[in-house]
Amino acid sequence: MALKQYERHEPCNLKLFTPGPVIVPDYLLKELALPNDTHRNAWYSELQESVEEQAKRLMYTKNDVLTFISSGTGAMEACMSNLLDGDEPGLVLSCGAFGNRWHQIGQGLGKNVDKYKIPDGTAFRADKVKEWLDKKDYRIVCIEANETSAGVMNKMEEIAPVVKDTGALLCVDAVSALGGLKVEVDKLKIDVCLGSTQKALALPAGLAIAAVSDEAFEKAERTKNRGYYFDMVELRKKMLAKHQTPTTGPIHTLRALDISLNHILDVEGLENCFARHRRMANMVKGWANGRGYEMVPDPGYESPTVSAIRRPEGMVTLDFVKQMIDRGYRIVNGYGDLRNKSFRIGHMGALMPDDIGELLGVMDDVLDK
Ligand SMILES: Cc1ncc(COP(=O)(O)O)c(C=O)c1O
Repeated sequence: MALKQYERHEPCNLKLFTPGPVIVPDYLLKELALPNDTHRNAWYSELQESVEEQAKRLMYTKNDVLTFISSGTGAMEACMSNLLDGDEPGLVLSCGAFGNRWHQIGQGLGKNVDKYKIPDGTAFRADKVKEWLDKKDYRIVCIEANETSAGVMNKMEEIAPVVKDTGALLCVDAVSALGGLKVEVDKLKIDVCLGSTQKALALPAGLAIAAVSDEAFEKAERTKNRGYYFDMVELRKKMLAKHQTPTTGPIHTLRALDISLNHILDVEGLENCFARHRRMANMVKGWANGRGYEMVPDPGYESPTVSAIRRPEGMVTLDFVKQMIDRGYRIVNGYGDLRNKSFRIGHMGALMPDDIGELLGVMDDVLDK
């Protein structure tokens, strides 16, 4: 019998304007299709070390970088299981679905976590965060740099000092930020900055990376019951000894990540890469304003990697998304509480301003009909 062929039908032919997973450009697809090798050899160690070193440059840090064999959620879980011991209090700052997820992870692990939730679409302000921090001696504070569900960017340069003043460890979810938004880990004294491959790094899902401070590692060492799979202490040991992971990872994804980071850092250049993402975000915002549509985030807090637009009067979000799919373009519904109340356009990874121009033209065409 012939080998089953996966039919390349509708979803594969769509042009993805999604907030992850995203289009994987040909130069990375090529890496993903190379012959396999094992993960306990010098070649692999060299590869992982190269990823670690490049990830440090991406995150502006000298901190050690861990590789998690999971999507981004695994690294979020690691923060909760490694950095909160017993019933020490932790605080999650949530302005959308992924902030809520971090709180759920803490609860699922039986941790003593509070949630300071602000309406989806709003961003955290330092003075209000400080009021919350005054309530308890929180040991960790978790926040999204970029809340993908609402297209909101939190201004980490304003929030980080307020958190660090309290002595809490600061954990930042940069899953949809890394590669599209500057997050300066050392300058802001971020203790854990985590990201994953399927967003602005333009790869399939399967790996998460996190820059972890010495203070956070020291805390992890003192924490009992850190679990097994996401034990930061064990992950670090293996990384320091051999630049390997304790379990088998997606070797191809790591290999393609090495090339993706190389492209961002040394071919395009970080600043150019950030500027391209911001330019695409501005194009979408300009388009929305032009049509009289309202952005979900407060002005000035729009994400550079994903734009969330409030559903205008008379639009059925799902119908609009479907019509765009029929034209070959995948945009997505709102997420969490914003589902059916907004639609989102991802502009991250390998997308270019011309791609956004093309998309906006098609959206006009669909909406004007
Ligand atoms: C801000 C943010 N955090 C966390 C996640 C979860 O990441 P993953 O799906 O890689 O586990 C996502 C995914 O969309 C995200 O956008």
